[in-house]
Amino acid sequence: MAWRSKRKVMHAYNVTAEIYDGRYSLEQHRKYRKALENVDVSGVNVLDVGCGSGLFFDEVTDKASMVVGVDVSKKLLIKATRRVAKNMHVLQADADHLPFKDGAFQAAFSFTVLQNLPKPQRTLQEIRRVTGKGCKIAITGLKKAFLQTAFHDLVEQSGMQTEVFYDVDEINCYIAVLSA
Ligand SMILES: C[S@@+](CC[C@H](N)C(=O)[O-])C[C@H]1O[C@@H](n2cnc3c(N)ncnc32)[C@H](O)[C@@H]1O
Repeated sequence: MAWRSKRKVMHAYNVTAEIYDGRYSLEQHRKYRKALENVDVSGVNVLDVGCGSGLFFDEVTDKASMVVGVDVSKKLLIKATRRVAKNMHVLQADADHLPFKDGAFQAAFSFTVLQNLPKPQRTLQEIRRVTGKGCKIAITGLKKAFLQTAFHDLVEQSGMQTEVFYDVDEINCYIAVLSA
């Protein structure tokens, strides 16, 4: 059942892959800037869960040791591949079943992805699993999909420490930076 809904999401993003950057780049970069004010990626392994076309890659590639992007949409991943530098990798994977060992990353980001997942708390725990203890996770919740209280509860109930929580008028997501 969960996989059926994920397949629908995958299909929807495949269909809109060509127009994604033109439509969302500006908005997404606002989120990246806010998240990166609170997460230092210097010299660490960075995970971008639901990386889409890789818009975030340019923001971290120069500083991070390694950047890995995962996404279910093959069409968006093809676009992401064009942005890949030598310290980067992209792969097709489900955010609920990340093909990495525990604590493989020292920083994780997931921008505008959780609204697509049937059990966002489960997804959050999976991102936590692959992120080292005490390391930072920046996650956003689309305002159209989550009430502010619901998204706040989601991050609070994750068992992680909330370092910052933004609800900024000109950004269409809440942004939470958590300590894994
Ligand atoms: C609104 S886009 C955001 C893309 C990217 N994070 C950005 O900042 O531009 C949502 C992304 O989540 C991906 N996605 C949806 N469900 C997923 C899942 N189960 N596992 C991994 N990625 C998923 C979609 O394919 C899409 O690329």
